[in-house]
Amino acid sequence: MSSRAERVEIKAAPESVTPVEGCTVVIFGGSGDLARRRLIPALYNLLLDGLLPAKYAVIGLGRKPMSDEEFRDVARDGVIRHSRQALVQDTWREFERHLFYLPGENSDPETYAALRARAEQIERTMQLPGNRIFYLSIPPSSFAPVCEGLAQAGLATPPAAKTPYSRIIVEKPVGRDLTSAREINAVTGKVFDESQIFRIDHYLGKETVQNLMVVRFANSIFEPIWNHKYIDHVQITVSEAEGVGTRAAYYEEAGALRDMVQNHLLQLLCLVAMEPPYSLDPDVVRNAKMEVLRCLRPITGKDVERFTVRAQYAEGTVHDAQVPGYRREKGVNPNSTTETYVAVKSFVENWRWSGVPFYLRTGKALPKRASEVAVQFKDIPQILFNANPAQPQPANVLALRIQPDEGLSLRIVSRVPGTRAQTHPVEMDFQYSDVFGRPSPEAYERLLLDVMAGDASRFMRRDAVEASWAWVTNILEAWEQQKQRWLPEYPAGTWGPVEAERMIQNDGRSWRLL
Ligand code: BG6
Repeated sequence: MSSRAERVEIKAAPESVTPVEGCTVVIFGGSGDLARRRLIPALYNLLLDGLLPAKYAVIGLGRKPMSDEEFRDVARDGVIRHSRQALVQDTWREFERHLFYLPGENSDPETYAALRARAEQIERTMQLPGNRIFYLSIPPSSFAPVCEGLAQAGLATPPAAKTPYSRIIVEKPVGRDLTSAREINAVTGKVFDESQIFRIDHYLGKETVQNLMVVRFANSIFEPIWNHKYIDHVQITVSEAEGVGTRAAYYEEAGALRDMVQNHLLQLLCLVAMEPPYSLDPDVVRNAKMEVLRCLRPITGKDVERFTVRAQYAEGTVHDAQVPGYRREKGVNPNSTTETYVAVKSFVENWRWSGVPFYLRTGKALPKRASEVAVQFKDIPQILFNANPAQPQPANVLALRIQPDEGLSLRIVSRVPGTRAQTHPVEMDFQYSDVFGRPSPEAYERLLLDVMAGDASRFMRRDAVEASWAWVTNILEAWEQQKQRWLPEYPAGTWGPVEAERMIQNDGRSWRLL
């Protein structure tokens, strides 16, 4: 059963787009992958959609020596390969006039004097107001020299100055445990006020993730049943078909728990579990999410074995392609104990969620790319249509598909037409592409625009980053103590290790088939 909703053409109400002032975006790591694949294409799409301010400039800053022209060529290539919307010659010519490049070492104080001179010259020529956004798309070890360099060159204006503003965007990972996260926060916090710091978790910019709050709080039918009385458990899955790819150096140090759970999955959990905020003010929303993190039951000591499973992919086949085992991937230590899969059973210890498990799982080299939040409701009593214990009725499930195939489905039990008393589960399904037609903007488009508008609601506040790390660090430390030399394995292209199956089956439940 699918949605009969007619495709709707929705025009943005003028007041729904916050007007943004002109600005200069400086990308540290300007010659890197993120800039080419995500940031430049995102800015270009904002221009195509008429959302960039009339006056803007983008300065890529990186170690690699490059001229403005070469940077524009790299940017063009990035847009051709990775942009949501195709490159349009005229708009591209217009856009590339705003792109500049400055070679420089992050650790060299002269870089910042040169950056200031270059920015001022560009801002004069292009009549920009001097608002600056510094995007730190660089390893966390460079955050300190960059912040200090910006401060010393007078590029970090105090928040009190208001205009022109300066803001920084901090890419993940914000640290690798609680201590390092605190250090990074201290370093950035020494130079910039919290109101100027935007810590990115790109999941928060995804359309479907933003829709979680809308589903919960713009509909009257869900909130009354959104609690332990009606909900049996919640499953949050972020599955990736890709293996580690070219990112072994980073991933070896991170692993699935740090890379995905500490940020993306815990943020999804917060949006599912939070209390209704009393307004959409960024700090009110972030306070409500913070409350969830505070209520997460710590997983420590022996519980780590009961409530977490980590594993590595072994040789297998994904989408008909042969995949080597993780330990045989290029750049991976053959004795690596870095996990490429993790499953966690967690509890939010407050009145609403008392006793309701939240099962989280994420992994690389799984059968397909599929992410969803599934809320499974309690079984009905074993009477009437559920009287036969050998054939229990499937429970209702509300599944919010994050990606791909964005949408939402509700599983309900229906009568099969005919003379026999037979029932069958059916899905009421809503798909974004059916109803709204147009593709959603990429997360980075939304988030860059938010920073220009100074709206921090979809960014991680300092306390939330630290609270997530505190919870994750307990698990990391317990794993560390286990000193395992081999992790359980799952063949690439399967849904994870048997240990994860066992963990949920011991509770009389099973992972959803995606
Ligand atoms: C990143 C992780 O934060 O998210 C990657 O570092 C992961 O390992 C990626 O592949 C997934 O993002 P998306 O938007 O493709 O789901």
